Amino acid sequence: MPNTAQDTEHLIGKPLDRVDGRDKVTGHARYAADFPVKGVAHAYAFISTIASGRVTSIDAAEAMRQPGVLSVLTHENARKLYRVSMEHQPGRPGQTWLPLQGDEVRYAGQYLGVVIAETLAQAQHAAGLVKIKYDPQTPVIRLEDALENTFEPKKMGRGDPPKSKRGDPDAALARAQVKVDQTYTTPIENHNPMEMSATIAAWEDDRLTLYDATQWIYGVRAVVSTWLGIPSEKVRVIDPFVGGAFGCKGSIWPHEVIAALAAKLVGRPVKLMLSRQQMFTCVGYRPKTIQHVALAADRDGTLTAMAHDCTSQTSIWRDEFAEPATKQTRMLYRCPNVRTAQRLGPVNANTPTQMRAPGHATGTFALEVAMDELAYALDVNPIELRLRNYAERDEDENKPFSSKALRACYAQGAERFGWSKRNPKPMSMRDGGWLLGCGMATATYPTNRQESAAAVQVRADGRAIVRTASHDLGTGTYTTMTQIAAQTLGFPPGQVKVELGDSTLPEAAVAGGSQTSASVGSAVQAACEKALSALKERANADPKSPVFERTSKAIAVGNGRIFLKDDPAKGEPIATLIQRNGGRPIEGKSDLVPPGERPTGEGDDPYSKHAWGAQFAEVRVHPRLGEVRVSRFVGAFAAARILNVKTARSQVMGGIVWGIGMALHEETVYDPNRGKVVNDNLADYLVPVNADVPTIDCFFVEEPDEHVNPLGVKGVGELGVTGAAAAVANAVYHATGQRIRDLPITLDKLLLPR
Ligand code: MOS
Repeated sequence: MPNTAQDTEHLIGKPLDRVDGRDKVTGHARYAADFPVKGVAHAYAFISTIASGRVTSIDAAEAMRQPGVLSVLTHENARKLYRVSMEHQPGRPGQTWLPLQGDEVRYAGQYLGVVIAETLAQAQHAAGLVKIKYDPQTPVIRLEDALENTFEPKKMGRGDPPKSKRGDPDAALARAQVKVDQTYTTPIENHNPMEMSATIAAWEDDRLTLYDATQWIYGVRAVVSTWLGIPSEKVRVIDPFVGGAFGCKGSIWPHEVIAALAAKLVGRPVKLMLSRQQMFTCVGYRPKTIQHVALAADRDGTLTAMAHDCTSQTSIWRDEFAEPATKQTRMLYRCPNVRTAQRLGPVNANTPTQMRAPGHATGTFALEVAMDELAYALDVNPIELRLRNYAERDEDENKPFSSKALRACYAQGAERFGWSKRNPKPMSMRDGGWLLGCGMATATYPTNRQESAAAVQVRADGRAIVRTASHDLGTGTYTTMTQIAAQTLGFPPGQVKVELGDSTLPEAAVAGGSQTSASVGSAVQAACEKALSALKERANADPKSPVFERTSKAIAVGNGRIFLKDDPAKGEPIATLIQRNGGRPIEGKSDLVPPGERPTGEGDDPYSKHAWGAQFAEVRVHPRLGEVRVSRFVGAFAAARILNVKTARSQVMGGIVWGIGMALHEETVYDPNRGKVVNDNLADYLVPVNADVPTIDCFFVEEPDEHVNPLGVKGVGELGVTGAAAAVANAVYHATGQRIRDLPITLDKLLLPR
């Protein structure tokens, strides 16, 4: 659709095309590694091949003799870095322990050094010639081997307590009429964005510029400056375009400071881009989880008890990243007796990190498969079971929901999918030679919000420039912020320019946790409202203005004009007003923390805020080969006001594709003895391709919400993956009668008798 919208009053919600689409498809969009920095040298990392022990020698003599090689950075010549804790704000380091600070090896694939050369090929070639000798020790590789050593984290996710309890779940489980009591496991997964992590570091005296692929400009600035022990004002971070991230660029990782060290060492700007292989160990990953879920119900399907325990892995140095898989279990269903707990098991791997819907992707798999098992144990329709236990308020936080149109998601999703046509008996439906199965599950993700600021300038040339140090990860931020600004200022979208991704812009929160629309969107709206007030004041005080001496209530804006609400012909272009008044731009700036408001999750927010959905999958399973094909998928979502129905649909659709991958394909395999990732490439690490993904029918139901935030939006970036893997797993059970509780559901698991 061409961006011809003349009606600037109803821009928010419109399926506006991406304003950055042309730049992206023509190659004009600049990603971190694309910046043409003068005199840049190239670094290539070499990484450990053992998972535990010490480096006894590094012989770089032959590497140094290669053409073009400038230097080799290892622990022997790297300067000391300062430790940054996992609680650091703003900016969260992905790991507290840093490589190149000693001879210790703590995981396979850890940095041992980088070769810096004139060209990438020269650096790569020389890195292969560095000879390393080790004194290896026996590593702990599998989470199963760390179960004796687990510990309770101080918190999980964004600061929630690691445990919860209401009522007396154990007593209720003991007297259960019907019970499900099972263990569910999810594997290690890697984010695999198209754009690998990359940093170009350039020093100018004591000032450092980083062109860096990140979800958090201000976080990089804060953490890298602290690691280096320099004031954060000395560091500038630039990243206008991000080629996918999904969480692996949401924390700050060692390459971002190693690039700075390398640039210092050679006295030139240095570019360090991770290889696809290095992306598996040099940034975080989704940790393996072992989840135990117990559900008890009365014969009529009323839940009487729920227990959910999750043990996930972390690094051997016990950094606290706890995949918060139990979180939705605390609030998703009405139930008087609930307990949940999280533990961590340390292994010789890097610290795990957030990955698209951290906790909710893995946790809804366990909970929503367990709910399906309960539905079968009770012989009740799985949707009916969920409706019988529908939570009208958040019983964990003891608060009302700001809005909850989940009933409409179940109803409209079921209708679109044709749920009522399914014969609930397992193995009862066939299509040709294939077994046919239908499964459903609930989707849910919290609505996060974090302090963000924005500034806007309305200029005499008739353009509005919006500035905020947020990011467009492919999510549509440029477009949705354009819509918010254009509608608020009454400007055609083509006259609004949004600038993102530079630490000289007003501070914005991490572009993670599905919070950019709510956080940055609210800031952009507030900044534009301030500019609008200033604009009206100026018009009110200008005798030449057609709205001279009229109250701000009587003045309206639209299509780039300022005019009288009651008599729209009485008006003029906003640009004319500014030109006549000396041409100085009119500015609006929102504060980092809007007065009288608190970001979600902090302080005494009176409402519990979550987005919702219902996922429906149809699969075909080959009865002899165990091959699973997802043949249809329907997702119905409720996320309050939708800023742009086109980009939002893209987000939830992408989430569902992730859910299909999680259900059937994705798994990072570690060699159980050596601890190396054996499938660290996109040929062996399977992600769903077009042939694996059917047409996805996803849509949003109406969900007005006056309480959630000033803009009235919830996030959609992570919602779509939640419940999606469970819907597929439940469909596989319906098709085959085989309950696979261990992801991914591969052929061998369906063929093996169990
Ligand atoms: Mo998302 S995993 O918070 O980038």
